[in-house]
Amino acid sequence: MFKVVTLYGHDMADRYDHTTFGLAALCEVENGEILHKFLDKNELIDSSWRPKRIESRLAIPLLVRHEPKRVQDLIDSSLEFNVELQHIEFEKAELSNNPHQQLHRTVSRWLEFEVDDVEIPQFMSKIPRKWERFDDLIVLQQHAFSSTEWNIFLQNKETDTRRDFWRDIAHSLGGKRLARQHPIAPDKLRSSQTELLYGDSGWVEFLDHGVRFGFDATQVMFSSGNVTERRRIGFIPMNDEVVIDAYAGVGYYSLHMAKRSLAKVVHACELNPNSIKGLKWAREANNLEESIVIHEGDNNETLPKLYGIADRCHLGLLPSSEPVWEHAIQCLKIAGGWLHIHMNVDDSNIDAWRDETLVKLRKFAKKHNRNWKIESPHLESVKSYSPHVRHIVLDVHCCEN
Ligand SMILES: C[S@@+](CC[C@H](N)C(=O)[O-])C[C@H]1O[C@@H](n2cnc3c(N)ncnc32)[C@H](O)[C@@H]1O
Repeated sequence: MFKVVTLYGHDMADRYDHTTFGLAALCEVENGEILHKFLDKNELIDSSWRPKRIESRLAIPLLVRHEPKRVQDLIDSSLEFNVELQHIEFEKAELSNNPHQQLHRTVSRWLEFEVDDVEIPQFMSKIPRKWERFDDLIVLQQHAFSSTEWNIFLQNKETDTRRDFWRDIAHSLGGKRLARQHPIAPDKLRSSQTELLYGDSGWVEFLDHGVRFGFDATQVMFSSGNVTERRRIGFIPMNDEVVIDAYAGVGYYSLHMAKRSLAKVVHACELNPNSIKGLKWAREANNLEESIVIHEGDNNETLPKLYGIADRCHLGLLPSSEPVWEHAIQCLKIAGGWLHIHMNVDDSNIDAWRDETLVKLRKFAKKHNRNWKIESPHLESVKSYSPHVRHIVLDVHCCEN
């Protein structure tokens, strides 16, 4: 097979071949581990190709962007054993499925021909370490590829080239579409401000503990970090219960309570038309038309119409659902019931917050002539929301004295 051999390193044409002729660093096998660590630390290794043993020596493939003389000088000034640079033939490495490594490789290749060697570590230190996946859409965090150097790198690209970059990032992370989160809007719709970087649409569909979800991820938020809480809620038996979900969203909890907890009816109250679109889709997809009733509008208007009917109220708004506590007390049946109160609370203040909350709920109950005993048998710690702040759920039981 004809191969183009560049002056130093592997040619672009070789990337899709099973062998390549490229630059290698060779040392005696007993020094191989030290050399590998050194080259790796300096981002010099081309991990697409497999290191090779040649008699008593180990050959490690080097990235194309490096000029042999500079690499040789760096090695000679840092290592005490003999290392020689040579062009040899390598075989393709079996690429790891680890998405972090795949992302690293993809980004290295984009930078390889365009960014000066000394700047590479700075770029590499800013690549994303976390992302979420819904369906085949990868959602990067807000600051991914947004540092000054990445902004300049991307802004200098033609639109089509930038699109190719985002496509490669999506593929390296095992997706087909790519989006980047912007902060959740501080309005009461909690609108998602996700920016679609690659792909035609933000609509996603997926299964979560046996429940089907569907929504436009560029329009509404979905916190995949609440997975344990969705699971827990779905394990609480609610047979024959009437449940109110005051901040239903796309059905994060409503769907689990209807499908897995077997609630008789879930009144899903929600304000955002985009969330309601997803909720309606999922109600049908999960065959829950009989058990989910959607109340479109502000809780201050919908909840008063549901006073006195519920066995359970789920209040899932962060940072706080306090604005509807008084409504929720009035929504419970005269005999009482359960509340699940979500809240972000400072780590050091959780016990005090629980006590204060129970005092407030008892006050509302008394105000509305409920002679109830109000206790909290359980407080669930869902996740760390930010440093020192926990997302918790307080389970509250109200029953007649
Ligand atoms: C952040 S989402 C719920 C998140 C979900 N509990 C989770 O953990 O992933 C909160 C939902 O409450 C809705 N919402 C906020 N204020 C509301 C109000 N006053 N009345 C009705 N819905 C409201 C928002 O539109 C949003 O869909």
